[in-house]
Amino acid sequence: MYKLIIKGGKPLKGTIKAAGSKNSSLPILFSSILADEAITLSNTPQLSDISTTLRLLMSMGADFILESDSSLFVDSSKLNNLVADYDLVKTMRASILVLGPMLTKYGKAKVSLPGGCAIGTRPVNLHLQALEELGAKIEVKNGYIYAQTDGLVGTDIHFDQVTVTATENIIMAATLAKGTTTINNAAQEPEVSDLCHCLNKMGAKISGIGTLIITIEGVKKLHGTDYFVCSDRIESATYLVAAAITGGSITVKNTNPQVMRSVLGKLIEIGADIKTSKNSITLNMNGKRPKAVNIKTSTYPNFPTDMQAQFTALNTIAEGHSTITENIFENRFMHIPELMRMGADLNLEGNTVICKGVKSLTGAHLMATDLRASASLVLAGLAAKGTTTIERVYHLDRGYETIEEKLKLLGADVERVQD
Ligand code: EPZ
Repeated sequence: MYKLIIKGGKPLKGTIKAAGSKNSSLPILFSSILADEAITLSNTPQLSDISTTLRLLMSMGADFILESDSSLFVDSSKLNNLVADYDLVKTMRASILVLGPMLTKYGKAKVSLPGGCAIGTRPVNLHLQALEELGAKIEVKNGYIYAQTDGLVGTDIHFDQVTVTATENIIMAATLAKGTTTINNAAQEPEVSDLCHCLNKMGAKISGIGTLIITIEGVKKLHGTDYFVCSDRIESATYLVAAAITGGSITVKNTNPQVMRSVLGKLIEIGADIKTSKNSITLNMNGKRPKAVNIKTSTYPNFPTDMQAQFTALNTIAEGHSTITENIFENRFMHIPELMRMGADLNLEGNTVICKGVKSLTGAHLMATDLRASASLVLAGLAAKGTTTIERVYHLDRGYETIEEKLKLLGADVERVQD
């Protein structure tokens, strides 16, 4: 295993390029199951979750080639094994996204229940309920989902609560269903829209993209396509917070400020100078200490839960008091005890953290637990006085492409060392 060693206190300066979106690439890779031909993706990030997805698709009979220009050629058109095995699914919950495509294309699927993770129990009841409404027969036993259908039939689906991957599963299932499906209270996250745009390039008929009501008219088949995956808004925002927490000034290129308004609004509130162009964002703290800012996570276009841990880290050294309320996941606070070991003044009351900004944190030996909590520990280490060591950085590698390289580009003193 590897750990990161960070010597904190250096304001980050410079320019980096955002990677392609993890949470776009994953559903789009699984959508390759729907097509009768291969798809070619560009701008997919080099992350362990992507390799896990490719391994899972390969275990089901798919082929892929990583081209020299780093585009990804994926042919999942002829699967010969309709089982998503526990050993692979347990490492990545998003594997549940094989269910909709497999069911609608082949009429049956056996998918391991993903199980919970550090941030919550992560149930999949909304996925299964909606697939049953489309005509699937579903049984859950021995830790597996057994699903089958003689042919899915489009219908009106209503999600009681907004759910990103359940929306994506139903969109994919509905593309080859008989008739029309309408999804009410659909997730509006940009990654859902990116999946829809790719599916439409493959011949699907999806409208209402990016709104609460998405309509999918079933078609007979989907063909191959090539698709450029959108940039990762959470990776981009994480680096902007890295600059903010160290009082630096950076530019993130190949990103899309249009889908980051709620986060950029909060960065302006902490006192950052933000300049944007069509595909870049520049943040400059002008050497100032950030001001504390209150956060309430919600669904898109409001403040994303995937940025909560990072803004909690920012608030620990900000001027003033703040409250951070997590409304999406029941246990997305694994970073709190670790930040407190660095001297943060935090109190957790239910789903709200009460934070009193301190002048500075001190470096410590920390343990990463989940993807975004790990990112918040890196941010705290960049700002802290002294050295911070973060164990189990494999959590970070799931969502941040070569994180230490990008941080070094920005002047951080960070090394990845073997345990
Ligand atoms: C997606 O997870 C993202 N993952 C998460 O990003 C992100 O935090 C989350 O959406 C919210 O934006 C991917 O896109 C691969 P949900 P997902 O279904 O789809 C409850 C990261 O860090 N729920 O929108 O699993 C659920 O427990 C990851 O990149 C049910 O109760 O999240 C949660 O409380 C972490 N039953 C709420 O809905 C269900 O069947 C929203 O979850 C499904 C969800």
